[in-house]
Amino acid sequence: MTKKSETIQTSTDELIALLDAGERLPGAAELRARSYELLHAGPGTPVVDVGCGAGRAVAELAERGVRTVGVDPDERMINVARSRWPEADFRVAGAYELPLADASTAGYRADKVFHELTEPEAALTEARRVLRPGGRIVLVGQDWDTFVIDSGDPELTRTILHARADLTAGPRVARRYRNLLLDAGFDEVTVEVRTGVFTGPAMLPLLVGLAERACSVGAVTREQADGWTAEQRARGEADRLFLALPMFLAAATAPI
Ligand SMILES: C[S@@+](CC[C@H](N)C(=O)[O-])C[C@H]1O[C@@H](n2cnc3c(N)ncnc32)[C@H](O)[C@@H]1O
Repeated sequence: MTKKSETIQTSTDELIALLDAGERLPGAAELRARSYELLHAGPGTPVVDVGCGAGRAVAELAERGVRTVGVDPDERMINVARSRWPEADFRVAGAYELPLADASTAGYRADKVFHELTEPEAALTEARRVLRPGGRIVLVGQDWDTFVIDSGDPELTRTILHARADLTAGPRVARRYRNLLLDAGFDEVTVEVRTGVFTGPAMLPLLVGLAERACSVGAVTREQADGWTAEQRARGEADRLFLALPMFLAAATAPI
């Protein structure tokens, strides 16, 4: 195995660990359930979950009888999804080139994916191609500039958050969901925001990750990153950690 693929594999495994931790957080199951409702998908309805990651949503939709295919361009991710949910349909593919015929699906879901895309407009053109008239699209995700974290050093917190946001292809795409969907020609566009409030140590891996990524690009020093995470760890132990994270759910209908 080459060094490059080892690096990619480690980061995919780290992402899976973070996603698994996120799925156990209070409110996560309800948020996914709301995204399924917004798809209006009943038993037998064909749906694609784009950027499906390790596949939980695909499995949950399949449990409801929805005919779901999960796609993700990361082969390692798809292998993990297949090993976890062997009955489900997973394919290696990205948002710009879905392995689906024109007008072949009635639902399109992308959860925490559009911030990864440099061309969200092109992804929505592809969504329009695969969706039938009247089909539903649901986008879920956070805005990387609206993490609310209590800290003794708000300025350092801002530096860490902005540095982490800037490492993302589309850090503010969630606040653009409505306009992107309208510009792509979708009808009946709605947006809901559900804010998770986290006070326990379960969010520490995410907080440590923010500081580590900011440190890795030189936005903060090693000492600053360590000091910041030590404070957050101490807050977690003393029941004084506070993170509020708004999650945006946008939904729309493909024109009839
Ligand atoms: C933060 S994860 C979210 C995974 C899953 N949707 C979930 O909620 O657990 C983002 C996913 O988007 C995938 N991704 C990255 N670029 C993509 C692209 N161009 N098209 C589709 N998915 C992409 C990644 O491989 C990763 O699995």
